[in-house]
Amino acid sequence: MQRTLLLALALSGLSYNAIAQKARPANTHSVDERVNQLLAQMTLEEKVGQLNQYTSDRLATGPLTENSSKYEDIKTGKVGSMLNVRGAKDTRMVQELAMRSRLKIPLLFGLDVIHGYRVTFPIPLAEASSWDMKAIETSARVAAAESAAAGIHWTFAPMVDIARDPRWGRVMEGAGEDTYLGSMIAKARVKGFQGKQLGDLDAVMACVKHFAAYGAAIGGRDYNSVEMGDRTLWETYLPPFKAALDAGAATFMNSFNDLNGIPATGNSYLQRDILKGKWGFTGFVVSDWSSIKEMIPHGFAKDPAQAAEIAIKAGSDMDMEGRAYITSLVKLVNDKKVDVAIIDDAVRRILRKKFELGLFDDPYRFSNEAREKKELNSYANRAKARDVAKRSIVLLKNDGQLLPLSKNTKTIAVIGPLGRSNIDMMGFWSVKWDNDKLVSVYEGLENKLGKNTKLLYAKGCGITDTSKAGFAEAVATAKQADVVIMAVGEAYDMSGEAKSKANIHIPGVQEELVKAVQATGKPVVVLTMSGRPMIFNWIADNAKAILHTWWLGSEAGNAIADVLFGDYDPAGKLTMSFPRSEGQIPVYYNHKSTGRPSPTDLAGSYRSGYLDMPNSPRYAFGYGLSYTTFELSDLKLDKKAFVDTDSITVTCNLKNTGKYAGEEVVQLYLQDVVASVTRPVQELKGFEKVSLKPGESKTIKFVINKEMLSFYDQQMKWTAEPGEFKLMIGNSSDHITLRTNFELTDRSANQ
Ligand code: GLC
Repeated sequence: MQRTLLLALALSGLSYNAIAQKARPANTHSVDERVNQLLAQMTLEEKVGQLNQYTSDRLATGPLTENSSKYEDIKTGKVGSMLNVRGAKDTRMVQELAMRSRLKIPLLFGLDVIHGYRVTFPIPLAEASSWDMKAIETSARVAAAESAAAGIHWTFAPMVDIARDPRWGRVMEGAGEDTYLGSMIAKARVKGFQGKQLGDLDAVMACVKHFAAYGAAIGGRDYNSVEMGDRTLWETYLPPFKAALDAGAATFMNSFNDLNGIPATGNSYLQRDILKGKWGFTGFVVSDWSSIKEMIPHGFAKDPAQAAEIAIKAGSDMDMEGRAYITSLVKLVNDKKVDVAIIDDAVRRILRKKFELGLFDDPYRFSNEAREKKELNSYANRAKARDVAKRSIVLLKNDGQLLPLSKNTKTIAVIGPLGRSNIDMMGFWSVKWDNDKLVSVYEGLENKLGKNTKLLYAKGCGITDTSKAGFAEAVATAKQADVVIMAVGEAYDMSGEAKSKANIHIPGVQEELVKAVQATGKPVVVLTMSGRPMIFNWIADNAKAILHTWWLGSEAGNAIADVLFGDYDPAGKLTMSFPRSEGQIPVYYNHKSTGRPSPTDLAGSYRSGYLDMPNSPRYAFGYGLSYTTFELSDLKLDKKAFVDTDSITVTCNLKNTGKYAGEEVVQLYLQDVVASVTRPVQELKGFEKVSLKPGESKTIKFVINKEMLSFYDQQMKWTAEPGEFKLMIGNSSDHITLRTNFELTDRSANQ
């Protein structure tokens, strides 16, 4: 009977267990009761199996090692989760293997849905440039809905690593250099991924990564060590993780780096004292790809058994593709080196999420091909991707108002190696598809312009090659056009994981190509594209119009065309400084004053600077132009001094003084002038993105409170100290138009 039934069920698309699961009465016990009931039935081997995660071979996102037994292991309860299995059909198939295990504990399916699943959204560093929390949440919402429809329970996102070093390829995955903005974006992305509640069929578990301080790798070299004081860790790098946790993040992922000599994976200060202790995190921590076993090459463990012992004791609950736990933990417990209570805690954390996702009621509930077909790549999802993409574009220069272009331009030449590229538009960490339709720049223009505009194209040169053989054709093509649009930059896989670069200039001879084309005297618009801040000083000095378009995903070309022709007035603002030279790195806006600040931005007369270059970046944090102009005025404070139980209300007026409707990001920066530890010369403490029609005005309001003035003092106590503060309001960290000061007074002084 069994075989016949299975065959019949297989044909009906439902497995034996799916029926059995459906037959199971709705459970009235609480999740914790159900977890404990199940735990009591589990053998030690089955418990350790829950802490083990394997990758599918199809989509390896790390160094693959031979593992022929993985599917057998699933059937015998030795695997708790799989990553890189995607699609309703494949996840159902693999889940069915787990349903053959003794206790039929469902697998969790995880995937790097970093900026979109089927429809690719802009890379996170691009989205961050929108400063638009609603757009960022929408992007994560669509990614969740599509991936959940494809059988995914869990995305390894958001990456919330603060990054001040553009040599590090993974800056593309985060929100840039600022803690306040990064914390808001972390929250928006967790809310987007997890939706209303876990278990909804359009929601996936978030995974906040990489815990912690991975973005401060020395030299910007991926996986390198991190050395930093506690104050920098707590003030700059940890807050986005706490913001994500407060937003309800279900899981965390630790990081490859060692922090002050202790690998994050084996760092109980990070994972137990802070995350699970002080912050009270009740979800689970997954290691990064084989980061448990990598404590051996770190020189922190002598063998997989010791690595497993260190990691489980330090609070790493699940072993991603390391096979340290599955090969060592049972013996470690039997040898009394690891207390089974530690194992039980990790298993509970994982089982709790499986119950919350409803997987014990129906292990296949996310693996529904009909829903997958309906949700993926829908017109509505692509429209949202286009909207987020256009908001992510940053206008760096627009001399003589060359932009926006007229749609009646007769002939337009697209020149450069990225002008007709589709694949590069997707950026790193996209979920790759064979037949993906990523709209190129050229196609975006075709879609936008009528038949009366003639489009020309010349590649000019490759992205990295040094040959100028294509220059002549590019120049000749430019001469035939009324306007030239150049598309230059990196390839999509020159940033991302393991993509650090010591030289972040635009690669190859692309800048020389721009120079050659510009020499024709034709109006040239330069589109710079990359996953990181790049250096392009000649273009910055000589081009009339520059749009930094990052990697904008599926709708890249259409969003770029929306901006080029004024259907959308660009409003993006950089969230990472663009250096003038690699020699300046790290260069970031919220730096300290030093004892010898360089007011003229240059060295000399014993000031802190360089002999050969200003201290300031090429483009500053918060910088981005618009087709229209805005004016900030009328700064008012309701008081000039306040005690820490009170607050100050700040208002100012923003007016659109130009001829286009547009959006402005009004940024509030504060400086603690004197404190018991040195403080940054400015720190973003508030912003408001405002949309105004020509001539329209709006009063902007900020409320300043003690929390905004607080920092960790010499005893690492979070406090605000009485004294003078400088207040700065502008549309960029280096373009402040309203300034004043105020005082935090000591309460005792007022009594
Ligand atoms: C990678 C990355 C991590 C990713 C994981 C699974 O090595 O560091 O961000 O989520 O492995 O692909």
